[in-house]
Amino acid sequence: MPTILITGGHGGIGLACSKNLAAQYRTNLLLAGRSLERMEPVALELARTYGVKVNTLELDTSSLASVRAAAARCRALLDDGAVDSLQAILCNAGTRIRGLNYSVDGYEETFATNHLGHVLLLELLIDRVAASGRVVFTASGTHDPDTVDGKLVGVASEPDAVMLANEGKEGRKPISGGKRYSTSKLCNVLTAYELDRRLRRSGSAITSIAFDPGSTAGTGFLRAMPAPLRWLSRRPFFYRLQKRLGITMGSIEFSGASLARLAADPAFAESSGKYLQSNDGRLTETRSSAMSYDKARGSTLWDDSKLLVHLRPDEQSTLLR
Ligand SMILES: NC(=O)c1ccc[n+]([C@@H]2O[C@H](COP(=O)([O-])OP(=O)(O)OC[C@H]3O[C@@H](n4cnc5c(N)ncnc54)[C@H](OP(=O)(O)O)[C@@H]3O)[C@@H](O)[C@H]2O)c1
Repeated sequence: MPTILITGGHGGIGLACSKNLAAQYRTNLLLAGRSLERMEPVALELARTYGVKVNTLELDTSSLASVRAAAARCRALLDDGAVDSLQAILCNAGTRIRGLNYSVDGYEETFATNHLGHVLLLELLIDRVAASGRVVFTASGTHDPDTVDGKLVGVASEPDAVMLANEGKEGRKPISGGKRYSTSKLCNVLTAYELDRRLRRSGSAITSIAFDPGSTAGTGFLRAMPAPLRWLSRRPFFYRLQKRLGITMGSIEFSGASLARLAADPAFAESSGKYLQSNDGRLTETRSSAMSYDKARGSTLWDDSKLLVHLRPDEQSTLLR
């Protein structure tokens, strides 16, 4: 049975996706996250409930050393047959941090976690993904400044990798946590499209999709928010209010199931380079922000990211030149 690697597949939207992949598509799972302690009980439960093989992979997307170690471990698991062939990589892990933090590599943590770690992971593992496999990025409607979602969280800034990695350094005033988040999500969309272009250029048939799960209550995402806001976010009237305001509305179950469909449903085999959005119980292809279609920005973002992760020539995938 093919395996799907999912970052952050043990919680929130990722866990709903993992359950769906196991139940509906009978895929094996490779849960990748920064805490084996949090992942292992979930892996056991998934394996017991759905009868699929579930492995775990220690991977902190904010740490370059951790991503390199995880990629090496994944290769070893594939080589010795502990993990069956890799059908897809789901770049789903994400964080939204209010204060300004830096990763162990000295990069702004939101950008390092949501964007850089995933680019490195793909460079290191894309050649192990099945010829007709998939990559899906869990992005967010907040990346688009022309939408209510984008305006509410903080309008995304210029996706300049070097600037974003070094936010707030050398006395510069940092952009807000909300803007750092929406910009990292813009980077996810630009990266999904750039990956599609690079794969097409190299003749690969792997599909690369950007996904917006919609505003989704009940995940770990609001854990840094005040308790009243977390309570409010789960009330049905608040859902209706947000919908009326024009916010894209997800739910753990539907958004997770949508991510699983994008990863495994043959209906999305032709969706490479597209943006799919889950909104109020419907999964539809839609337009992402105007800037996300800028090919020059996408290409520069990828190349600058490769420099920031210190990608060595022997690490660079021939599929992604
Ligand atoms: N909820 C929403 O309203 C919403 C809307 C649009 C997009 N999204 C996106 O949906 C994705 C999933 O978020 P969620 O809402 O399901 O929130 P969540 O429950 O907090 O899930 C986030 C996952 O990412 C993992 N993660 C965080 N930092 C990590 C790191 N440095 N290395 C590895 N894994 C890490 C977390 O694992 P730990 O257990 O280690 O924390 C967790 O499993 C994110 O990319 C988010 O940006 C969410």
